[in-house]
Amino acid sequence: MIFLTLTERTISENLEQVKDCEACIRGLELRVDLLDADQLDLVYEFPSMVDLPVILTVRKKIDGGEYDGSEEDLLEIYRNALASGYTYFDLDDTINNPALFDQALSRGIKIIRSFHDFEMIPADFISRVRDNYKKEYFIPKAAVAINSTADLYNYFKLCDSLYDIPEKILIGMGSFGFSTRVLTHLTGSLISYTSFNNPNPQLGHISPVKLCQQYRYNQIEDTTNICGIIGNPVMHSKSPELHNSWYSDQQIDYVYLPFQTDNIETFLKLAEFLKIRGLSVTLPFKTEIIEYLDEVDDSVKKIGSCNTVVFQPDSSSRSVLQGFNTDYLGFIKPLHQFMLKKESKLEGKFLAGKKACVIGAGGASRSVIFGLLKYGAEVDLYNRTIDKAEQVARDFGIKAFELKDLQIAPEYDIVVQTSSAGMGELAEIDPSHGYRFSGKEIAYDIIYTPEKTKFLARAEESGASILNGVDMLIKQAEYQHQYFTKGKITAKS
Ligand code: ATR
Repeated sequence: MIFLTLTERTISENLEQVKDCEACIRGLELRVDLLDADQLDLVYEFPSMVDLPVILTVRKKIDGGEYDGSEEDLLEIYRNALASGYTYFDLDDTINNPALFDQALSRGIKIIRSFHDFEMIPADFISRVRDNYKKEYFIPKAAVAINSTADLYNYFKLCDSLYDIPEKILIGMGSFGFSTRVLTHLTGSLISYTSFNNPNPQLGHISPVKLCQQYRYNQIEDTTNICGIIGNPVMHSKSPELHNSWYSDQQIDYVYLPFQTDNIETFLKLAEFLKIRGLSVTLPFKTEIIEYLDEVDDSVKKIGSCNTVVFQPDSSSRSVLQGFNTDYLGFIKPLHQFMLKKESKLEGKFLAGKKACVIGAGGASRSVIFGLLKYGAEVDLYNRTIDKAEQVARDFGIKAFELKDLQIAPEYDIVVQTSSAGMGELAEIDPSHGYRFSGKEIAYDIIYTPEKTKFLARAEESGASILNGVDMLIKQAEYQHQYFTKGKITAKS
């Protein structure tokens, strides 16, 4: 169930937030410790102002909240709220007041006994949850920091071992723990907390609207196929938005999550545990992942990087892991579409007779070169560091040049910019600056932010046609989508 944690300073501001997401949520948590002092009287009327179950929470400073009054005053707030219509009282497990518990329980108020650890998963995690369960009287709640892939794997297993507790709330905090907020059907958590104030992806917070609309949380069940992206960093990735929107459009039972990852081997164990069906792989794991795969296709072998993994169920207990590269297809498809001016299947050597120049010799460059060669182009490679260019050129049987040689370069039909010069701190740099555009070229920059790099702007001024990396980003994901949702896929090994 999605609950909205109300974190504003006044009841009226909090009510505004409820209006903004009423269709997505199943309940509210009122954080009294975050309210201005003059709002206290309204706390006792609050449940009658909304049409949803409400948790009353007064979180103490030592438990991660803002309340710094005495424990007696804190208990008084709960006592005064006994007849207010709250469905739940959340009380930290450091507070022990059997009289209040009895009064609340006798009125049908459910008690959430919670603990938080902002540093790690504590060694006594299981025993503390079980102690807080106390023979079915209480709903135990644990919110703990997840700091690594190993933590996340451990956390899902710990949650699994608590299967016998029917009502519990289990949250993994931080960007490594983000998936625990979406996959509560696997952690067994009754509630996934959301908030509008802290939709900071690095903390793993999420807004209720995003959880409900992008991740379709309310439709996730045991049968839902899980896919995702691994990388570090990864929480900024546009892939979840793209893949989840296709699942939604096609009405298929899939969900796609960002998994912040620091260890591939451990992640793959977790992937088996969660029965993950498909993975996108991004920096810095595109090469490292290959050694863990059972089968890879020719593009992965030649490019030396894999951005797509399919988990093919096998008769053995472990899936067969198949690796593909859709980066080169994502790069080629927009070029193909642009040259043919229509959508059609990628086949034949449509680049035969075309001379292409590739700038940059990093990871992305290899996918671009592979694609250009595969569809028939003749390719020259230019890079600032010639040694690197020569190494890549040797792998593909093409010629390598220093970047400054662009000044004396012949005319090319296609000029592709694959280096990082042109984005971020290097946004002012045009690595092609020595090249004199004739105006007949197709200039293609795989960068998509900014939309028009210095390189593309100069090419356009000369009359050349320009393409940026937006369509490449979408197309490589579209090809992944086909792999993830197709029935039986066989990769040549
Ligand atoms: P990726 O894997 O994303 O392609 P990378 O492996 O770090 O990234 O490669 C970055 C590419 O950008 C390299 O070709 C790099 O050139 P060097 O091999 O000489 O380092 C290129 N690059 C980075 N900054 C550049 C700049 N200021 N001018 C020209 N090329 C630059």
